[in-house]
Amino acid sequence: MASFNTIAGCVLASALFAMVVGKVSNAVVHPHKLDKPALAVSDDAPTQTAAAPAAVEIPPIGPKLAGANVDAGKALFQKQCFSCHTVDKGGANKVGPNLWGVVNRPKASHAGFTYSSALTGKGGDWSYEDIDHMIFKPNAYVRGTKMAFAGLPKEQDRADVIAYLRTMADTPAPLP
Ligand code: HEC
Repeated sequence: MASFNTIAGCVLASALFAMVVGKVSNAVVHPHKLDKPALAVSDDAPTQTAAAPAAVEIPPIGPKLAGANVDAGKALFQKQCFSCHTVDKGGANKVGPNLWGVVNRPKASHAGFTYSSALTGKGGDWSYEDIDHMIFKPNAYVRGTKMAFAGLPKEQDRADVIAYLRTMADTPAPLP
């Protein structure tokens, strides 16, 4: 009997010991739920940048127009724009609208051409600066435009083309 009691006592004692150790280690390790996942990925700035790249700033084209090369602009127009645009008076609409007198013309206003709702909704007239943005990166300036053109990255090229467009009008708009 004595040995049974001793064994039972030992079992009880070690069970108690295990409980105590368990409580103590719980208290020491102190597990608790994190308020946020430790590896949470911030979902503000970087993802927004990927979804909608900030519009690229370009310096005003106005000051470059007086010294621009109209003949170089004409050659560039024929190479880069003419596949989609005529520019002569009364010229046909092609993939894009005729561009006679486009400087200061209300946007998306040429008769007989079906514009995208993106351009129709832009509003205002085609100032030199707005044309510059349009031919720099059409889809950045008018998100969703039908003008499927990569753009003219060189400022001098854009100045030359705009100076040429200016001459293609009944009364060329004054230079800025
Ligand atoms: C691949 C065909 C294509 C090329 C190349 C192209 N365009 Fe366009 N362009 C269009 C289309 C289509 C529109 C109408 C856009 C819309 O409705 O969203 C347009 C619209 C425009 C407009 C606005 C006209 C208006 O009546 O509101 C201007 C200005 C313009 N283009 C200038 C140019 C110039 C300058 C070039 C050459 C540097 C050029 N485009 C090259 C297809 C083209």
